[in-house]
Amino acid sequence: MSGTSGTSTTQSEPWTILRLLQWTTEHLKKSGSPSPRLDAEVLLAEARGCQRIDLYAAFNEEPPESVKAIFRDSIKRRAAGEPVAYIVGKKEFFSLPFHVTSACLIPRGETEHVVIECLDRLKKYQRVEGAVAEPSVVRVVDVCTGSGCIAITIAKESRKFGANIAVTAIDLSPDALAIAAENVRRLEVSEIVSLAEGDLLASLPDQSVDFIVSNPPYVSEAELLQLERGVRDYEPKMALVSGPTGLEIVERLIPQSADKLLPGGWLIFELSPMIAVRSLELLQKDTRWKYSGLVNDLAGKKRVAIAQRAS
Ligand SMILES: C[S@@+](CC[C@H](N)C(=O)[O-])C[C@H]1O[C@@H](n2cnc3c(N)ncnc32)[C@H](O)[C@@H]1O
Repeated sequence: MSGTSGTSTTQSEPWTILRLLQWTTEHLKKSGSPSPRLDAEVLLAEARGCQRIDLYAAFNEEPPESVKAIFRDSIKRRAAGEPVAYIVGKKEFFSLPFHVTSACLIPRGETEHVVIECLDRLKKYQRVEGAVAEPSVVRVVDVCTGSGCIAITIAKESRKFGANIAVTAIDLSPDALAIAAENVRRLEVSEIVSLAEGDLLASLPDQSVDFIVSNPPYVSEAELLQLERGVRDYEPKMALVSGPTGLEIVERLIPQSADKLLPGGWLIFELSPMIAVRSLELLQKDTRWKYSGLVNDLAGKKRVAIAQRAS
């Protein structure tokens, strides 16, 4: 590719879309990308301002120099290990486009399970106690919100079945909250989702919330070193690492949630298989939970803990 080295093809041959994709796929493969062809297609489509599928109908076209220059720059960043989502500034979650920067975690497919488990319960939720006059607003808190992907998706999906909810999205990082604010604006949920800076649930009154959802940091210091380069070097450490054991945030989240939830309210949070058993034990030994269990992800790994507050 023009401006790079290592291609054996002659310079007179035009840099068509197909040739750009073939050359870049090889280059990214050598740089260690686990998905070189996909990366090349996403980055070229972004540079060209089109959908990936449109590339297939334009294989023989040669893009203008302006497009090739943008593409070259993105390929350099990707080859250095930067995740594609940060390069293009967006990531799809639950079929919604989320703006992302290196200030927030890139939303993951596994986290959609937290949303699904919450929506399933929201659909049939009725306050068992709490003496709140009807119609009551169901209060949902997404703690450790990052890009806001969980809070915003629950807000948008719950509209579809007419739930009357208010979502508070909390994060300790002001930079992450700025990204969440941008997503709240772009995805048009500002009348449902409000943002708050804080350390876990400390700022909430006791027994004031119906649902607490979270994807908290749950990686241990040792596990961080084993993660792939793109995650370890580019995603915020405070979004990933909980402490030496990986359980530190969950150990605080579980009792705080029992304080803040209304009777019959639900706690739903993501975890890793490494801390799943220990997290379940923490829930089971606290008598304020009347139910607790674990849900597997699509790969069959323990991924979500669910608990219901006793009356
Ligand atoms: C694993 S990321 C999850 C982001 C987003 N919910 C998602 O699923 O993509 C964890 C988030 O927790 C935030 N965080 C870390 N410690 C926190 C704390 N003590 N209180 C509140 N937020 C915290 C980080 O800034 C980060 O945005």
